[in-house]
Amino acid sequence: MRSVIDILDLTVEEIDELVKCALDIISNPSNYSEKLKGKKLATLFFEPSTRTRLSFEAAMYELGGNVLSVSDQKASSASKGESVADTAKVISCYADIIAMRHPKEGAPYVASKNASIPVINAGDGGHNHPTQTLADILTIYREKGRLTDLTIGLCGDLKFGRTVHSLINAMARYSNIKFVLISPKELVLPSYVVSDVLDKNNIEYKVTTDLESVMGELDVLYMTRVQQERFFNEEDYLRLKDSYILTPEKLLDAKIDLTIMHPLPRVNEISVAIDDDPRAAYFKQVLNGKYMRMALILKLLGEM
Ligand code: CP
Repeated sequence: MRSVIDILDLTVEEIDELVKCALDIISNPSNYSEKLKGKKLATLFFEPSTRTRLSFEAAMYELGGNVLSVSDQKASSASKGESVADTAKVISCYADIIAMRHPKEGAPYVASKNASIPVINAGDGGHNHPTQTLADILTIYREKGRLTDLTIGLCGDLKFGRTVHSLINAMARYSNIKFVLISPKELVLPSYVVSDVLDKNNIEYKVTTDLESVMGELDVLYMTRVQQERFFNEEDYLRLKDSYILTPEKLLDAKIDLTIMHPLPRVNEISVAIDDDPRAAYFKQVLNGKYMRMALILKLLGEM
């Protein structure tokens, strides 16, 4: 029985296998429409979500399975003080696999240690979001035709943005990947990601506060939202929230085949005037997330 809590729980070969499976699902959806008949996915979301929860649920339905859902902590017995460990044991009696989002870092890991079914981390605090990374990887692959030899700019809240941490961990394992880290000084990448991932693996990276000065170097630009929910101080959030707003003028020096990504939800980070630019890939990312979650559920239930 296998869980996915961190993107590093999957080898590069397994990620490549998931990409291959997702591409086959896209080409031959009817081959998969009854694969998980009689199986149940429990989505336990103790923090708000639109894309991740609904794409997990759409993924399960499109595989012929069913869904049990907790979308509000207040409506579950967690609000009466039930522990994550007990919740995981209970859900194991009803479902075949769990997707869990929780505001506390490590909660899905605790669930995985107590459940008798696979647990997928659907985002834990400011820590990790491995299935967003799978969506991001499929998007990069479909847009660029490769997962190697890329300069990836990560822009915005690199401190609290869990999708950034997972994406760096994943892409650092592919060859000739360079990162450009663009953020206000207050929201730089945590030092443990810099030392444990970038420095330890001799990955080339550059740090800047100035997006426009590096725009022309980038193959992929990954914009992120300033994570209001992780700030202790409203004043700091208000000061930093609009640090980077991507507008058509800021793309003047960008490569013609740049891929513009964002895990969404966006607030102000990308002007809607960019939505029709052929380089905008953030709504494709949403759809790719469903296909990669289908592939991952199949893998963890032994059906891939
Ligand atoms: N990208 C992402 O995790 O979106 P949601 O918070 O809507 O699930």
